[in-house]
Amino acid sequence: MTYEPSGLESRPHVVILTRWCEQYANYDRYLDHDSHRVTYITNEIASKSVPPAAADVVVVPATDDLASVRGALRELVARHGPPASIVALKEDDLLVGAVLRQDSECPGPRPDELLPFRDKYLMYQAIAAAGLPLPAFAPFTGEQSVLDFVATAGWPVIIKPRVGSSSEGVVLLSNPSDVAGLTPAARPMLIQSYNTDPIYHVDGIYTGDGLGQWRASRYINTCLGFREGGFLGSVEEDDPSINEAIGAAAAAYLAALTDQAEPFHLEVFVDAAAPGGPACTFLEAGARVGGAEIPFIWRELHGYDLMSVAFNLQLGLPVQAADPVAAQGDVGGWLLVPAPMAPPCRITEATTMLGRTPGPYAEVLLRPGELLPLGDAYYEHVGGRFRFRGGSSAEVQAALIATARDFRVRAEPIDHPGFAQNGAGRNGGRAGKEPVQDYSQPLLSGEGDSDYARYMRTTALLSLQRGPDEVIHRDELLFQTVHQSTELWLKLGCAEVSEAAAQLRTGAVDASARLLGRSALAVKLITGQLEMLRHLAPWDFQAIRTVLGHGSGFESPGWRSAQRVSAELREVFDDYVVRHGIDLVDLYRGSPDHPVYRLAEAMIEWDERISLWRVRHYKIATRVIGHEVVGTKGTPVDVLPRLIAHKFFPELWRVRTELTQTGPMNEAALAGLA
Ligand code: HEM
Repeated sequence: MTYEPSGLESRPHVVILTRWCEQYANYDRYLDHDSHRVTYITNEIASKSVPPAAADVVVVPATDDLASVRGALRELVARHGPPASIVALKEDDLLVGAVLRQDSECPGPRPDELLPFRDKYLMYQAIAAAGLPLPAFAPFTGEQSVLDFVATAGWPVIIKPRVGSSSEGVVLLSNPSDVAGLTPAARPMLIQSYNTDPIYHVDGIYTGDGLGQWRASRYINTCLGFREGGFLGSVEEDDPSINEAIGAAAAAYLAALTDQAEPFHLEVFVDAAAPGGPACTFLEAGARVGGAEIPFIWRELHGYDLMSVAFNLQLGLPVQAADPVAAQGDVGGWLLVPAPMAPPCRITEATTMLGRTPGPYAEVLLRPGELLPLGDAYYEHVGGRFRFRGGSSAEVQAALIATARDFRVRAEPIDHPGFAQNGAGRNGGRAGKEPVQDYSQPLLSGEGDSDYARYMRTTALLSLQRGPDEVIHRDELLFQTVHQSTELWLKLGCAEVSEAAAQLRTGAVDASARLLGRSALAVKLITGQLEMLRHLAPWDFQAIRTVLGHGSGFESPGWRSAQRVSAELREVFDDYVVRHGIDLVDLYRGSPDHPVYRLAEAMIEWDERISLWRVRHYKIATRVIGHEVVGTKGTPVDVLPRLIAHKFFPELWRVRTELTQTGPMNEAALAGLA
């Protein structure tokens, strides 16, 4: 279709790029959809939330994919004429919106204005140049860059993408073993010193020369913790001295980053007990409205619509003066509980928390049977969202913690991917309400002709074994299958050990023990599958050996990561035991139902399962290649039995020795009997 001007086209054409299903922004209230031609570029899942009065909608696979969004804009221009304004409010879409604005010569922020807010390296340089405190930072270029950095800055450090959001791609490194083998990433990354002070987010509007409306809130847990499966919450601060320090710091940070009016969401470490009064250290800043439940809290509690101000700024309109957001009055807070399993999934249980005291005043939950879609608005499609209000920060925090503790949400995998995705698309995240007729068409993007293939990535997975043109012996498939599936199980097992350590860091002893049960089972399964190698004839293996190069099991990434995560868990456990004054021998003389006892036994189970794998592997290896020979890496086979005695948690094994030495049958007692 080509654009043919008509009487209607005297209405300005405004293009909105959006990926939200929920009303984070009320577009049809911000702009009269009758006196403007308002068109939308959105993704499949959010397309059902476009206001009915929209003049047109183009669906793209992803709203941050510049090429497809540019294509969509061309379509809209052909149908409705050149845009007068282009709006994109979601963090990850800001840059695409700014590029389109520049292409189309529309008013509002340009890409170069946003860069200091998007590229953390430029951001930190600007903050450092203004002489404001921030953690040490440097570009990440691989293992050596971290070692050089810690030589002066010390452990631990964070590695994060220069451009990224919601803690995506952020990794915490605590010691040299975490760094071993780190290679430069495909995208530019940074190293940053790890700061353990509480993190606050500050939200509001910057006028170009000072703070307009703003409010500071303390995170309960961290965005990184949320990505790793913990809850994330935040409580608005009511302490005037902390607010005063944060307000002064926020104004200085924003002045260092821009001279334009912008909405802002910045994050700052606050040492509330610093000698001269609360001290702030910069973490990050965004020229956007804060995500999660922040826009809702502001509208509902403070009567101020941050999104509407951000919207107007992108139209090129000035910030309207308004009363400051009341420092007194209700304090707000919010809580996000992660999805119970990787979406898409079907909710089987979700307890409402409304009506509980203490509890939330609003919640967004899916009901059992509804589908949690794989959306790309990160903090929207979660296990539960809650909003709180109260007379003080302490009151709101108590309600938040009680809700996080008591809320239950469970889900099951979706057995029919077609249903899941159709449902999610039609209902914008509230799927399952509408019956879907056509199950035959795949809905996910990706390689393969079915949604199963696309989600499970079977095309890539099944191409990872040597093909007919490469194999020199048909048993290579058997040999590769056992090894490759071992790597997958170890990937899962190690992820669970790492999460168990993270849970224990927050004091969640039971959760930590439960996760270790999965890790140990993963090792039991890989021990079982070594049996398949009994079907490998020793002479056939001699042929296979000729194509293995110097490859050796010592190089197995799964095995290496097992060493790394076990060391991490040991450190966290030791720390927990010391902090809680637990004597391990006394613990083991007490009840096996003590949570720390159960955790210690789960750790022993993991340690023992690894040794049992080593036993089985040694027997299989010698059954196939014999004794007194060397492996493909030159290691004598007879080194393997010595490794069987290795222990990840020697102190937990020593406890047993000590129990025997001090028990009723100890040597001294026996000597006395003689
Ligand atoms: C025909 C079957 C196998 C033989 C003959 C064999 C042989 C060996 C040998 C000789 C070593 C000593 C290091 C070297 O020089 O390579 C070794 C180590 C190792 N192999 Fe195997 N292997 C077999 C199957 C497997 C499988 C299925 C896995 C699973 C990934 C595996 C993982 C390892 C690991 C992780 C080590 C290091 C051992 C440790 O730290 O205790 N191997 N293997």
